[in-house]
Order: sequence, then structure tokens, then C-alpha cells
Amino acid sequence: MNALGIDIGGTGIKGAVVDTTTGRVITDRYRLLTPKPATAMAVIETVRAIQTHFSWSGPIGIGLPSVIQRGVPKTAAHISDEWIGLNAEDRFSDGLATSVTLLNDADAAGLAELRFGAGRQRSGTVLMVTLGTGIGSALLIDGQLVPNTEFGHLKMGDFEAEDYAADSIRKKQALDWPVWAGRLNEVLEAYEALLWPDLIILGGGGSKKYNKYQHLLKTKAAIAVAEFGNMAGIIGAAIAAAQSVSEN
Ligand code: BGC
Repeated sequence: MNALGIDIGGTGIKGAVVDTTTGRVITDRYRLLTPKPATAMAVIETVRAIQTHFSWSGPIGIGLPSVIQRGVPKTAAHISDEWIGLNAEDRFSDGLATSVTLLNDADAAGLAELRFGAGRQRSGTVLMVTLGTGIGSALLIDGQLVPNTEFGHLKMGDFEAEDYAADSIRKKQALDWPVWAGRLNEVLEAYEALLWPDLIILGGGGSKKYNKYQHLLKTKAAIAVAEFGNMAGIIGAAIAAAQSVSEN
């Protein structure tokens, strides 16, 4: 089944049509700026423009930087607080006149990597960590997603993990690779102490420069870099949409 995957971030909203049986992106990637403020109405309008770009009327999966429970965002990072508590899945379905599935953006990326990317055919505990504006997480146990883990908010002393070691912090504080990798090691060590993952997949913008800090990482678990890079969120959102259509 083909589905349109959408990845909503603080700066851009990106979409592409994905063949969810292979994970292949079958169109170009279309990106529009996230409206400011990123209110529900404005974001739905932007997603509608992407839908129109692809003349798409089939199922749509949308990844948001939010905890999502039964279609309702419970948190909102880098988007308007207005989303919290809103029945967003219904709003999107109404606004886009098709079936819409919402999930956390890192969960979407994790689904894509587990199904078709760096974690394919891996059983056991796989932890996907996205290093971008914030830190996102997806926990996959024997192929099953445990949604909304939000490990980017784990307290590390006075800081939350993402305020200490996100890729945006490296840039903002002009941290050199050894210093930033040291922070990332502390964060990954905390995750490992709690979860003992077999594999950690690093994704997001910060995984693109993996060769700069690969030799500095000290995890017990094997590390792999996300194969789909910044497309993982789009691909995973499409997979989630196809899954919920076939379940209903
Ligand atoms: C949000 C998560 C999101 C992550 C990556 C965090 O700030 O709380 O929901 O997955 O950023 O975008």
C-alpha cells in the first residue's frame, strides 16, 4: 500500500509518498516552512498544501514532536501549546478528508529503521535516538514499538538530556566533537543503564556527521546510523498510516 508520510518539525513540514511494503519513497520530498505560530489551523493548512502538491487522497501518516495518545497530543515541543489535548487526529482527518494516523516523530523514525533500515531483522531491544533540535527516542522490543518514551527529557543532573546533548546544543554552544561526544556518552550511558539495548540507532541531523565522533563513543551496545537519515520520519509515518488502515 502507498501512503503519504508527513514529518512536522519546528522549522519545516516535509512529506513524500512511500511504498509501505518496501519502504521506498516514490515521489520527490516536498517541504514547506512550519507556520509561525504553529497553530492547529495553520499546520493543517500547510499539510493540506503538501497533500495537494501530490494530488493525494489516500491514507496519511503524520509525525509530530509530541506525546500522542489515541490521536491526542499530550505535549508540544517546538509547536504551539494549542495542540495539547486537541483531538488532532480527527481535526486532520476532517481537514484533509482522508484517514490520518498521528504518532510521535521519533517513534515514526524508529518504525522505519526497524522495518527497512538499520534495525531490519533485529529482534531484542532496539533504541533509536534522534539527534536534532531536541533528542527523540523510539524503543522497539522484538519488533514492537513502545510509544512515547521521550528519553530526550531524562534528567541528567541539572539538565534534561536534550538540553545537554542535542545536535542543536552542539551548534549553539560551539562544542567541539570530543566535548559533545562526551555529553552524548553520558546520555547514552544513562539509557543503557535503564534499558540494556542490543542496538542503538542514531538518527536526526546529528547522525550525518557520525564519522567525526564515532571513535569517541563508548557504548556497550552496538551503534548503527539511521539508513534513511532525515527521511526516516516520513517513511515511518507512512508505515503507521498503512498499518492502521489495514487494522481497521
Ligand atoms: C520532543 C519529542 C520529540 C523530540 C524530537 C522532543 O523535544 O519532546 O516528542 O520526539 O523532541 O523531535
